[in-house]
Amino acid sequence: MCEARSFFIYPSGRDSIVSAMTPDRLAALPFLWGAATSAHQVEGGNEASDWYDWEQRIDSVCAEPSGAACDHLHRYPEDMRLLADLGLNCYRFSVEWSRIEPEPGDFDQHWLAHYRRMCETCRECGLLPVVTLHHFTNPAWVAARGGWEEAVTARLFGRFSERVLDALGDLVAVLITINEPNIPALLGYEEGVFPPGKRDRSARLRAIDTFIAAHRFAVEAARSRFPELPVGMAIAMADWQALPGGETERDDWRRLREDVFLDATDGDDFVGVNTYTRHRIGAAGWIGNESGVELTSMGYEFWPEALGATLERTWSYTGGRTLIVTESGIGTDDDARRIEYIDRAVASMQSAIASGVAVRGFIYWSALDNFEWHVGYGPRFGLIEVNRETQERRLKPSAAHLGAVARGQ
Ligand code: FCB
Repeated sequence: MCEARSFFIYPSGRDSIVSAMTPDRLAALPFLWGAATSAHQVEGGNEASDWYDWEQRIDSVCAEPSGAACDHLHRYPEDMRLLADLGLNCYRFSVEWSRIEPEPGDFDQHWLAHYRRMCETCRECGLLPVVTLHHFTNPAWVAARGGWEEAVTARLFGRFSERVLDALGDLVAVLITINEPNIPALLGYEEGVFPPGKRDRSARLRAIDTFIAAHRFAVEAARSRFPELPVGMAIAMADWQALPGGETERDDWRRLREDVFLDATDGDDFVGVNTYTRHRIGAAGWIGNESGVELTSMGYEFWPEALGATLERTWSYTGGRTLIVTESGIGTDDDARRIEYIDRAVASMQSAIASGVAVRGFIYWSALDNFEWHVGYGPRFGLIEVNRETQERRLKPSAAHLGAVARGQ
């Protein structure tokens, strides 16, 4: 925490002061080319989590329950092998807090060993494990105690992080503490579509504070155990475009969505950039999609260049912090659109790099067609198709395409 505070609050637009002061813990790694999943979206049978309850409710806003998902719990060796054979060099996945700590303070050795085996298998396949400690889901008991509105959750998450790192930290290549804390803060506490389903701005503000404190506890847990391990958090970001006269409004929107979290990354080794599209803001606020622009199955504008623009903006806002694209991808049934998305997103990343932005990896979302939270299995983000009846896997052409990009072919 002290280390982080000593870097705190530089004005935006500063040159690489941060990079100069923080040792480059990513230096020993190659440029990361990979694909990502999260536990709840692919494992199946996550019954001790708040999301499981949220899906089962009679008045659930979820299109369908996650059920057996992609049975990644048992099939992860096959999935990792497929990714490695493509030529990727890392796999991003998350550990499930509700399995590891199903009751307060009761850490389940079986599940800690399971995630350790995942890291080992990953390395045996030639993939660097990029491990996320928290990706949206919470143990039901944490939710029952008030979830992220309660400051104590930060400490509980810190304790959980310590136990996970003790069990498998020596095998982790890159650690992501929390995935997109800005999303559950917004969708769970102000917009009501994620658990706990609140619609309350002050609850969102409390959740933001707790997430930030939790991130710092997890960074400390990593620093004290594995001083060389690169650590950061992944933030949901977009290319926020202001229409003439909309600049102030745009900055206001972006503040709680992104900037408060970016401000909390001082002392981290990288910012994980998760980007899918652009948002347009005018003088009177949110404008929405532009007519005539192609939409993905999430209803987002097909706008792959949002990635390069977001990287440039994040770099300048943080004064030159190193970045990793921890998610970018497209939900579509037309794999040719995925190939075009990948090519254009990667090209925009390369131009950001050419203009001086330090980017150390591109991790596509997602490895598998999986459970897309409250919208269910409709949108297909995967490089690998999953037959949910038989659990058979089939590589899409985009998988081989990303592999070729990764191998520089
Ligand atoms: C991100 C989430 C990820 C997935 C993609 C489409 O916001 O981190 O779990 O849902 O969007």
